[in-house]
Amino acid sequence: LVLILDYGSQYTHLITRRIRQLSVLSLCISGTSTLQVIAEHRPRVVILSGGPHSVHAADAPSFPSGFLQYVEENEVFVLGICYGMQLLVQKLGGQVRVGEEQEYGKMEITVEKEGGIFRSEDVGESQVVWMSHGDEAARLPDGFSVAASSRQGSVAAVENRERRLYGLQYHPEVTHSTKGMDTLRHFLFDVCGVAADWKMQDVLEEEIKIIKKSVGPDGHVICALSGGVDSTVAATLVHKAIGDRLHCVFVDNGLLRYKERERVMSTFESDLHLPVTCIDATDRFLSKLKGVKDPECKRKIIGKEFICIFDDFAQEMEGKLGRRPEFLVQGTLYPDVIESCPPPGSGRTHSHTIKSHHNVGGLPKDMKLKLIEPLKLLFKDEVRLLGRILNVPESFLKRHPFPGPGLAVRVLGDVTEGNALDILRQVDEIFIQSIKDAGLYDSIWQAFAVFLPVQTVGVQGDKRTHSHAVALRAVTSEDGMTADWFYFDHKFLQDVVRKICNSVRGVNRVCLDITSKPPATVEWE
Ligand code: XMP
Repeated sequence: LVLILDYGSQYTHLITRRIRQLSVLSLCISGTSTLQVIAEHRPRVVILSGGPHSVHAADAPSFPSGFLQYVEENEVFVLGICYGMQLLVQKLGGQVRVGEEQEYGKMEITVEKEGGIFRSEDVGESQVVWMSHGDEAARLPDGFSVAASSRQGSVAAVENRERRLYGLQYHPEVTHSTKGMDTLRHFLFDVCGVAADWKMQDVLEEEIKIIKKSVGPDGHVICALSGGVDSTVAATLVHKAIGDRLHCVFVDNGLLRYKERERVMSTFESDLHLPVTCIDATDRFLSKLKGVKDPECKRKIIGKEFICIFDDFAQEMEGKLGRRPEFLVQGTLYPDVIESCPPPGSGRTHSHTIKSHHNVGGLPKDMKLKLIEPLKLLFKDEVRLLGRILNVPESFLKRHPFPGPGLAVRVLGDVTEGNALDILRQVDEIFIQSIKDAGLYDSIWQAFAVFLPVQTVGVQGDKRTHSHAVALRAVTSEDGMTADWFYFDHKFLQDVVRKICNSVRGVNRVCLDITSKPPATVEWE
């Protein structure tokens, strides 16, 4: 196991993923975790991540006291990256100073010492790397030597082979570091002797064993399916483990996209053979949303209603089974459980609270269901890989994310007014289908239409119209936290707009949203 101690670098998740791409399990915990927590993981290698701090700052985060002794005694290899390297240097009695020149961006470094962290077959004599630091190592601790230096003469890599301690001032995990992956591969396999034994098939088998054991021979499990990748893969996995003792529910809240319920249910039934109860709760949701304009109120109403419906479902299952299901499947992913060390001033707390409002299916505390979260150690791309092994159709795995409150956050204002939902579904379908036809769907993180509660004047078929305006939005993103607008060519946009205005009654104007996140969010509400 490779354990990453996070000191707040924007690249920490990337290191975790890069190592997994080398078929080695890596986990990420807060850089200020206790020695006991670190030791419980029994790491073979510990990576100290980068971070925005200076080691001289009063609140500079650090590994716990006793850490260096622990790694020495247990023959653990340590690699400090950027801030992590400076931390290592400083804690071992070296000196870190504010660099004369700050080094940001691509730099060339020269290998000074071969046979340790660098092997010439992998990296040659010099390589381009990605630097992002102000402080630098001025004096190395005893027993350390410079393994590489930058053109400007600063220390780019250090090592103390005898004590198994290594440091890179640059970021090998970033693709701009041309030999970064080669260096990590050599370090893990040749220097540390780690085995490449983390395979998705093994993860699947291991999870099945765990689920079987915890549910027991006659336990029952329930799961709310949203039609998204995570809940579908989680449910498919649990179904493989315990068969029809899994009971899924899919709620049609009246806020779904064009033909979504039919499409999703048919995949569940015919391709995945999942036992799913479909509940049509359109009236329940829309009657509660009538007249509500405030986005937060809408979200809250929807969240609350989901909980009530889910509770009813659990009760219904109890009636059918003669016992209450004891477990609940959730498609929680690793980024949501990582305890990271937030950079100062980021407003983030230790746990990832940013997305909590997104868990619309949030469950009442008194449900007393035990959680099964089979994806909680995986990143999104790994979930897709697992889904492929489980034969979840590719078209399903590649679906764009869709928010829990559905079209309610895409009809601005009162969702029940006029035929807003119906208009939005038609516009959205044309837009998405055109994107698919143009072969662009997989290049886009998310694309959708928004219904605007304004009417504008137009002229259609020689007649003056006073109809609705809609907006189109398409973004690229890594994880939804930041996003850029997607660049369509003019001809594509022209065709889409023509199709929309010609075939959707009640729309005479189409706008394109070209705002990135920040300052906007992906959704309009
Ligand atoms: P925002 O609008 O916050 O969206 O920039 C970022 C990503 O999260 C999705 N999103 C949600 N997902 N429940 C969800 O399950 C929600 O309430 C919710 N709100 C936004 C959004 O679609 C985008 O992918």
